[in-house]
Amino acid sequence: MTKVAIIGTGPCGLSMLRSFEQAEKKGEKIPQIVCFEKQEDWGGLWNYNWRTGSDQYGDPVPNSMYRYLWSNGPKECLEFADYSFDEHFGHPIPSFPPREVLYDYIIGRVKKGNLKNKVRFNRIVMTVTYNGKNFEVTSYDKKNDKFSKDTFDYVVVSTGHFSVPFIPEYPGMKSFPGRILHSHDFRDAEEFRGKNVIVLGSSYSAEDVALQCNKYGAKSVTIGYRHNPMGFKWPNGVKEVHYLDRLEGNKAIFKDGHEQEADAIILCSGYLHHFPYLTEDLKLKTRNRLYPPKLYKGVVWENNHKLLYLGMQDQFHTFNMFDCQAWYARDVIMGKIKIPSNSEIEKDINKWAVMEEKLENPDQMIDFQTEYTKELHGLSDYPKIDFELIRKHFKEWEHHKVEDIMTYRNKSFSSPVTGSIAPIHHTPWASAMDDSSKAFLNQSKN
Ligand SMILES: Cc1cc2nc3c(=O)[nH]c(=O)nc-3n(C[C@H](O)[C@H](O)[C@H](O)COP(=O)(O)OP(=O)(O)OC[C@H]3O[C@@H](n4cnc5c(N)ncnc54)[C@H](O)[C@@H]3O)c2cc1C
Ligand SMILES: NC(=O)c1ccc[n+]([C@@H]2O[C@H](COP(=O)([O-])OP(=O)(O)OC[C@H]3O[C@@H](n4cnc5c(N)ncnc54)[C@H](OP(=O)(O)O)[C@@H]3O)[C@@H](O)[C@H]2O)c1
Repeated sequence: MTKVAIIGTGPCGLSMLRSFEQAEKKGEKIPQIVCFEKQEDWGGLWNYNWRTGSDQYGDPVPNSMYRYLWSNGPKECLEFADYSFDEHFGHPIPSFPPREVLYDYIIGRVKKGNLKNKVRFNRIVMTVTYNGKNFEVTSYDKKNDKFSKDTFDYVVVSTGHFSVPFIPEYPGMKSFPGRILHSHDFRDAEEFRGKNVIVLGSSYSAEDVALQCNKYGAKSVTIGYRHNPMGFKWPNGVKEVHYLDRLEGNKAIFKDGHEQEADAIILCSGYLHHFPYLTEDLKLKTRNRLYPPKLYKGVVWENNHKLLYLGMQDQFHTFNMFDCQAWYARDVIMGKIKIPSNSEIEKDINKWAVMEEKLENPDQMIDFQTEYTKELHGLSDYPKIDFELIRKHFKEWEHHKVEDIMTYRNKSFSSPVTGSIAPIHHTPWASAMDDSSKAFLNQSKN
């Protein structure tokens, strides 16, 4: 019997498990699956809890999530085709839920079946090697302090790429008297109440960490961009200046001559694709981009078609794109999809890579990833979902952000699965301080 190892049970690993479950429900004979998860529970980044940092075995629990994190895209754009928000919550909910609500939704889809039995929790995959015929996977069982080795025909890498921070150094950091941290270690904006905060970066983490600090009472927030400013209409107390040149004592001096006293520096400088358990011949090496190299259909490792990667792209689309990838990977594993010749693979990868190089703005990037996801969707029996509506929603969302970065999370979108329209949330995001499910779902507050 074919044996498959899935590494990681974040949204991607869960999509993979779900895809096999759905095939089995249709009466298909599925392979033997073993899923490895180094944490005590599933959910990946969305499984944020007080253990985040270090666990009871002394093992680091790297999780880049933080308190008060709300979805930064409309939930309708990430909705599962086979499990709608309406089905999970019993009624339509607003479009931008906080982390706990999204976590509940992700887990709701997988917890009904027997999928948890397929997961070995507290198991770190230490090494994966290919011996020319199959994969040898060594894992460490934290609970029992034991190593074991298993053999598999296929390996699915779903360990994410937003957990290992990239940390640049700037002159003067060594003698800076305040706190320096990466957004990966940002846990709670309350910590910066009354403080002068410097945020370095110009992508989603920089944007959200800056707004969070402002929302929860930072004295000032100064964002230093490197290449291009985000250029939003920032609220009072937030400004965007050009790139940090150096720190002198507690003073941050920027390339444009701007100076600011600082209590904390938060590096929102992105993450590394990091696979310490994979041998060199199997390892994806890439920056954060929409079409990482050497992955046929963004999934199949060009040099070994039995190694599959999920979710390695930079992400506009998330959960339903992960699903399309997982359904595709499942059909490759089950022999329903044939991988073409090496030259065809190369041609296909090059086609996407060339297109990616030409992208100039967010609308084009949204089109690119929507086309990619639609193509994958057409290759498996992943249920019907309206990707054209999702494309439209993403573009509208981008424009809402440009209009007003403080209010885009108050908007409402329609579901690409059920068509239902999200109600407006009872409290505008900027004044919604309680991010619990209870507070968010309590629409009667209206
Ligand atoms: C701060 C932050 C906020 C985000 N907000 C949003 C959002 O609002 N909306 C959205 O759609 N997306 C958001 N994302 C994007 C996020 O990447 C995806 O939503 C999603 O979590 C990716 O899933 P994944 O399964 O690829 O990876 P992860 O969620 O990172 O899961 C990877 C899993 O692999 C496990 N693992 C890692 N190494 C090993 C090993 N060696 N052995 C065994 N297990 C291992 C980890 O413990 C983890 O459970 C956010 C990302 C970050 C960093
Ligand atoms: N739900 C939410 O509110 C929320 C919040 C945070 C993050 N997220 C998600 O988390 C994921 C990761 O986002 P991210 O912003 O952390 O990473 P990212 O999108 O990969 O962006 C990395 C940023 O780091 C900057 N950078 C890299 N090297 C630098 C250096 N030496 N000095 C200064 N800046 C440097 C880059 O600047 P250049 O552009 O100049 O290269 C870029 O702005 C995304 O999927 C995002 O959606 C979501």
